[in-house]
Amino acid sequence: MTAERWAELRADIPALERYAYLNTGFAPPPSRAMTAAMQARMDLELEHGSTTRLAMDEAQARKEHLRELFARVLGAEPGEVAITSSTGVGVSTALAGLNLTSGDRILTTSVEHGSGVVPLYHAGAMSEVSVEFVRVAPDDSHGAIVERFTSMLDDRTCAVMLSEISYATGQLLPVRAITEAAHRVGAVVIIDGAQTAGHVPIDVHELGVDAYAVPAQKWLCGPRGIGALYVSPEALTQIAPSIVDVTLAEEWDLEGTFAPKGDVPGKFELAAVPPVLVAGAIQATEAYLESGAEAVFDRVRELNRAAEARFAGIAGVTLESPRNEESRTGLFCFGAEGLDASELGPWLQREHDVVCRAVTERNVTRLSLHVFNTEDDIERAAVGVEAALRDGITSG
Ligand SMILES: Cc1ncc(COP(=O)(O)O)c(C=O)c1O
Repeated sequence: MTAERWAELRADIPALERYAYLNTGFAPPPSRAMTAAMQARMDLELEHGSTTRLAMDEAQARKEHLRELFARVLGAEPGEVAITSSTGVGVSTALAGLNLTSGDRILTTSVEHGSGVVPLYHAGAMSEVSVEFVRVAPDDSHGAIVERFTSMLDDRTCAVMLSEISYATGQLLPVRAITEAAHRVGAVVIIDGAQTAGHVPIDVHELGVDAYAVPAQKWLCGPRGIGALYVSPEALTQIAPSIVDVTLAEEWDLEGTFAPKGDVPGKFELAAVPPVLVAGAIQATEAYLESGAEAVFDRVRELNRAAEARFAGIAGVTLESPRNEESRTGLFCFGAEGLDASELGPWLQREHDVVCRAVTERNVTRLSLHVFNTEDDIERAAVGVEAALRDGITSG
């Protein structure tokens, strides 16, 4: 893909006319095309009502189409993918369905998001399972991270849960090698893909993971409230559905008949999949696939290198995301001497129309660099940070 493609995507996002919007890792700025796709579904319901044959058939067909698109993003088969509402729900579904035994251990990393870790703590509390953290730093080599995991894995480790890209450091983690090591001790591997779908090429079969959860929002640029969960055919037999509705039943009546779905990802789905969100997610995912996963990943890393070069020259700035190429992504983190990141982000927005977020645990500011962002956006953020370091900031 070419610069024209990125310019075309940029031109379709009105918020970019005003803001240097560098916060896709939290939530992306919507495009006109995605909004129009959602509006088209609302118009159909306005005209026909939502339970007419036409509206219901359209909703069902579109849901199956979205499943195929999610499968392409994940490198999976459509029959291996359940439609969910978010990454956190996907991770939680995979975890809650495991048969955990008191005394088991779950391993994760020290750079996870709350939506991944809280389900671990909850599962731990419910089943007397310990949650243990493998320390990870942004500049660790993949080899060092795998070694640290391997040294902590043992036959009491029932599950490993980690992000393929850490929201906190922006680093790409060596999921394939960690999965191989985890499988050697019989642990199930669950991946939080909140920051990966629409950002890096994913091939769940190649990674060998048991479950991989993604949202349509964030880097795929779809709406909030819809996502997907891949579960491998082997793991399907180990993970039971935990929250269910009538969708689980193959057959049921009010006299005691109940036959649940077999071991298919559909057993994790619920009836309420909003057609408006499906429409938005289809548009966004098709646009991403049209751009090409490799091309997107190349471009966001190019922007990351540009940000690194620019911010490295600012006195008082420390670079806080990986500088090695094996871990580099479109997330760029920096610290600013003497400034509190939780105040710097809001100040940059107020004073410079720069939208980004703080990772408060690390006191760093995070810029999400997607293909619709430009070197000019990075420049605006850099100029804002220079002003903040020079003149100080006021809290709002
Ligand atoms: C790594 C990671 N996991 C999970 C989440 C939560 O995602 P969702 O809203 O799809 O559950 C986020 C959101 O920022 C994230 O960065």
